[in-house]
Amino acid sequence: MKLAHQHVFVTGGSKGIGEAIVRDCLAQGAKVSFVDIDVLNGEALVAELRKAGHSVAFAKADVANFPELEAAYKSLVAQFGDVTGVVNNAGVNSYADPVEMTDEQWDAFFAIDLKAIWLTAKLALPGMRKAHKGAIVNIGSIHGRLTFPNFFPYGAAKSAVMGLTRNLGVDEGHHEIRTNTVAPGYVLTPLTQGWLDAEPGRLERSLAIQPMGRMGRPDEIAKVVTFLLSDDSSFVNGSDWAVDGGLSARSA
Ligand SMILES: NC(=O)c1ccc[n+]([C@@H]2O[C@H](COP(=O)([O-])OP(=O)(O)OC[C@H]3O[C@@H](n4cnc5c(N)ncnc54)[C@H](O)[C@@H]3O)[C@@H](O)[C@H]2O)c1
Repeated sequence: MKLAHQHVFVTGGSKGIGEAIVRDCLAQGAKVSFVDIDVLNGEALVAELRKAGHSVAFAKADVANFPELEAAYKSLVAQFGDVTGVVNNAGVNSYADPVEMTDEQWDAFFAIDLKAIWLTAKLALPGMRKAHKGAIVNIGSIHGRLTFPNFFPYGAAKSAVMGLTRNLGVDEGHHEIRTNTVAPGYVLTPLTQGWLDAEPGRLERSLAIQPMGRMGRPDEIAKVVTFLLSDDSSFVNGSDWAVDGGLSARSA
């Protein structure tokens, strides 16, 4: 019960890695609230978990829309009290052409994969500063350090997630608020499945480069997130944690 008495707020918790984080935080004794644009899966997850006796709540919010995010956040705080841990997980891939990409597409993508992290910090930091304690975990990616062809400008956003983590870690550390990045490699989720399905042979090629011969599972990412939210990592701040089965250690 590493997270007893905590209220952990997760973005993008309806499925994939976010869902695994919701489940693991609950297993570790936290109250968990989450937002997502996927209402169907969000509500089904809450119904299942409440039936099992967990304290969990869901609100629909697009993390790129501050008024909507703020309203959802306030309603969740009203249920479970001030947030003690934030997990910025909501994210989308981008496969744009640098010439064809429009201003609007650029802004919409960065609003989700980067700006939303600042927005949740804006919401959660006042309570954390008052409590003189808190933990923020940002889900980055292996693309924060090395990227693959045709992912423009995903590598830029995920590198910036690591930079934002350092800014928050350095500036908020004296309040005992720790901020860290978890950078997954290939993890089998609906997002990855869509990418794998888009081209014949992609699954085989992706597996062939994995040092462990397989992709990661969402719960293997969640375990590291839970550790970084807990007091077991009480002196870990401003850092990034590769959880990629060794892929970023491998030279082509
Ligand atoms: N799956 C991987 O291999 C992998 C690897 C590296 C990093 N990541 C990162 O992990 C995070 C989760 O990825 P995943 O694979 O679980 O994706 P996923 O698409 O399976 O799940 C993401 C969840 O976020 C939600 N979401 C998307 N945009 C949103 C928005 N604007 N507002 C609120 N919710 C929104 C989706 O509805 C979905 O429920 C992302 O930040 C992604 O970049 C994933």
